[in-house]
Amino acid sequence: MCGIFAYCSFLQEKDRKTICEILANALARQEYRGYDSAGIGIDGDKPGEMFFFKEVGKVAGLRKKIAESSVDTSKTFLSQVSIAHTRWATHGPPSVVNCHPLKSDPKADFTVVHNGIVTNASALRLVLQKRGYKFESDTDTEAVAILTKYIYDSQPDKCMSFTELIKTVLKELEGSFAFVFKSVHYPNEIVTARRGSPLLIGVKTEKKLKVDFVDVEVAGPEETVDALASPVQNRPGGLLAPPSSGPPNLLRSQSRAFMSEDGMPQPIEFFVASDAAAIIEHTKRVLYLEDDDIAHIAEGELHIHRLRSTHNEGARATPAHRTIETLEIELAEIMKGKFDHFMQKEIYEQPESVVNTMRGRVNFDKSQITLGGLRAYLPIIRRGRRIVFCACGTSYHSAIATRAIFEELTEIPVSVELASDFLDRKTPIFRDDICVVVSQSGETADTILALRYCLERGALCVGVVNVVGSTISRETHCGVHINAGPEIGVASTKAYTSQYIALLMIALQLSEDRISLTERRTQIIDGLHALPGQIRRVLEGDSSLQEFATGVLANQRSLLLMGRGYQYATCLEGALKIKEISYMHSEGILAGELKHGPLALIDENMPVIIVMTQDSLYPKVQSAFSQITARKAQPIVICNEDDEDIPKGVKTIRVPKTVDCLQGLLNIIPLQLLSYHLAVKNGFDVDFPRNLAKSVTTE
Ligand code: F6R
Repeated sequence: MCGIFAYCSFLQEKDRKTICEILANALARQEYRGYDSAGIGIDGDKPGEMFFFKEVGKVAGLRKKIAESSVDTSKTFLSQVSIAHTRWATHGPPSVVNCHPLKSDPKADFTVVHNGIVTNASALRLVLQKRGYKFESDTDTEAVAILTKYIYDSQPDKCMSFTELIKTVLKELEGSFAFVFKSVHYPNEIVTARRGSPLLIGVKTEKKLKVDFVDVEVAGPEETVDALASPVQNRPGGLLAPPSSGPPNLLRSQSRAFMSEDGMPQPIEFFVASDAAAIIEHTKRVLYLEDDDIAHIAEGELHIHRLRSTHNEGARATPAHRTIETLEIELAEIMKGKFDHFMQKEIYEQPESVVNTMRGRVNFDKSQITLGGLRAYLPIIRRGRRIVFCACGTSYHSAIATRAIFEELTEIPVSVELASDFLDRKTPIFRDDICVVVSQSGETADTILALRYCLERGALCVGVVNVVGSTISRETHCGVHINAGPEIGVASTKAYTSQYIALLMIALQLSEDRISLTERRTQIIDGLHALPGQIRRVLEGDSSLQEFATGVLANQRSLLLMGRGYQYATCLEGALKIKEISYMHSEGILAGELKHGPLALIDENMPVIIVMTQDSLYPKVQSAFSQITARKAQPIVICNEDDEDIPKGVKTIRVPKTVDCLQGLLNIIPLQLLSYHLAVKNGFDVDFPRNLAKSVTTE
């Protein structure tokens, strides 16, 4: 959903770096966030000179454009403050004019990169056009760049600080954003801010940082107005009234962390990004910005201010400082290694990623689960009157997959909600509800909004998240990190199996004091123990899945997946994988619903996969199998290795047998592999499926 990046170096001249390479690499690492276009903006050596390189499509195209340019980008420019962007189009089609960085005017007085959507951009555009400003692009971001110029130009004495100027701009905006602003009027400075979209800043110095936090600088008393409650139309003086001039009213403090012993700024580099993947090759020391933070980087210092003046905003209170944290990912984790695609690597990582999800949490000898992030909240959760899962896409499917075992073990009613629909319906939520939000990225806009809705209504909110430091992991009361490691492929695979296990572990922990469930819990925990080895066995069957993709399923336009009980989620998730990367229509069908409509689709030409592993519903799925074969369907059957009841001649995908509630963890893997091979066979870009992006930070 767009990746933004800025590089700000305050190194000595001899140590300066070639910026274009740093920018292009950072964009490539964030490419999964959007690959409609890529662009960078760097300063030339003359005052006010800026070079832009923009290309439609992926970063490889941008690199080519840079290499072919007449600008000598291999030299180290004097200014090392630069910005970059990889786009997932929302306003306007993918094109060079819509490519970021967006400029306020041909001279690029102000330059902006943006992730998110400014929902009042059309109103701003109209107002600015009436005042004579010209627009070149269809983007919402250009309105922000031009608005910045308008506010700057309107000051009689031009004495606003860059931070103050951007603060004034942000007060006029509605929607969600992470921005980086750069300007010829404020050379060697950037301002970056977020509301609703992720943003973090990496810090690299030769020396150890003096402290591991940066204070948030509070505004003066005149800044106590709630900026968000004053949209452009309501500003005193009417639409876009010029701001009052006067001295900056921020109380500046020093960024002590970045000072050397003598109190002077030390040689330092800052990396602003949407995702840690863009920073990790430079430094592991990062700080995450909160919503409504505005960070200013200049002269080797970083200052963080608030758009709102207080730290205490009810459910979304923010601390008075931002801690400098150490990233726990390694560069190798975000590289493809020996694999052709990230998705393939991530499918193959599952024997290890599921172990990482369980590591330190499951005691197989004692059949015990310990989830440190939940411990203090267990009594409240047990007293909850219902559990509401909220998620989107694959994360939603992991909640569907574990609902039955949750209900069985906890005896608390569970509902599973698609976050967008949950909000559309304004679902009633009460203080004694437990809301479990599930998200790989922790940044999905719909899920974040659903979380905030539940927080406002006083429910206890539990996060099940992969990305540490993400918005959802910070805003929930408690939760479990799934520890699947970075997932780069747009199609989610290893996050699904880890979410599934994390949810199951929550249910197991909640039921630890139920003596009557001891046997069942032990059975499941033993099943978890055997799981990594069983996943390896499923992966060994990869070549037969490739044969299905290049054989009976090649050139098909549609594929139905059927199952029931625990396997309904497998069918939904398998169908999602197939449609999103192989662009084949695919539908997950609850086998019990077959006779209520979908059976009409069945004939000898309709490809079907039926999930028929042995659990208590096996006889019912056998009957669905009979119903479709009676109508000449020739289904491929996902069944257990030793199942001898499958009629001779039927094509099968055999998987090891495990406990009923874990079987979906094994059954999904052939479908992940199948979708992968279908996409590869058709020459599709597996890791970057068309029209999609990994982290959906817009509603
Ligand atoms: C499908 C996929 C998406 C995500 C969905 C939610 O392969 O990746 O459906 O599952 O966008 O994303 P998260 O889990 O990051 O909230």
